[in-house]
Amino acid sequence: MGTAMQEQAIAGRVLIQADALEAARSLEPGAVDLIYLDPPFASGRIHQARAAAFCDVWASLEDYLAWLVPILEASRDCLADSGSLYVHLDWRASHYVKVELDRIFGRDCFLNHIVWLYGLGGSSPRYWPRKHDDILWYARRPDGQYFVPAQVPARSRRMRGQSKKMPDFWDVAALNNMAAERLGYPTQKPEALLELIIESSCPPGGLVADFFAGSGTTCAVARKLGRRYFGSDLSAAAVALARARLGEPTS
Ligand SMILES: C[S@@+](CC[C@H](N)C(=O)[O-])C[C@H]1O[C@@H](n2cnc3c(N)ncnc32)[C@H](O)[C@@H]1O
Repeated sequence: MGTAMQEQAIAGRVLIQADALEAARSLEPGAVDLIYLDPPFASGRIHQARAAAFCDVWASLEDYLAWLVPILEASRDCLADSGSLYVHLDWRASHYVKVELDRIFGRDCFLNHIVWLYGLGGSSPRYWPRKHDDILWYARRPDGQYFVPAQVPARSRRMRGQSKKMPDFWDVAALNNMAAERLGYPTQKPEALLELIIESSCPPGGLVADFFAGSGTTCAVARKLGRRYFGSDLSAAAVALARARLGEPTS
């Protein structure tokens, strides 16, 4: 990415087609307040929907980690001192990626393992229904993170009528087939989930980056909340969809 693109990124309205590693390495060190990554989960599937498809098939878990780790390292390098990284995964790879993130950031920079309870989907007769994703949150510097926690109504009798900090399990409905915000992109995340992350972990006017932007959920929410955004995705169909969602020129 050239200097012009870097300047555009700092100004904060960028959606480009690029490999995640190349995109992360193109950003100036310390330039980004918040990174949200929703990479392929190592599901062994090709995810297909009306608007696009992406491949999540790997020769092995080692192969997957060898691909993802340099992206996580480059992500760390573009974070501001008060910045933080959220990595969205599930039961397949989250524990292995947690070990890598502890090494990359330092264990003292690990803040939360957030559990997203999404509810939808089928179940197997062989084990408990898998109904949550894992979101790992790391600070660039130990205890240096910007954080304005969301509040929820307290339920205990002692705190009746008061609010308390949202806990680390988030009951946010996944997009069902009728959801108005659904764009037909495979594994599209709900805006409500990104609202929690962006409002709490990026200051107003700050820069949010997402190197697996897909349908542009992170960028759309960042803009709605008055934050700047840098979004990229390898897929031309994803970038076209995200640009249309944001009302940006599609070519
Ligand atoms: C789980 S989806 C992201 C969905 C997105 N959060 C949304 O709400 O629409 C993962 C995305 O990673 C993209 N992707 C896969 N490999 C990539 C790579 N090497 N570089 C950049 N993007 C990649 C896919 O095209 C896909 O859009």
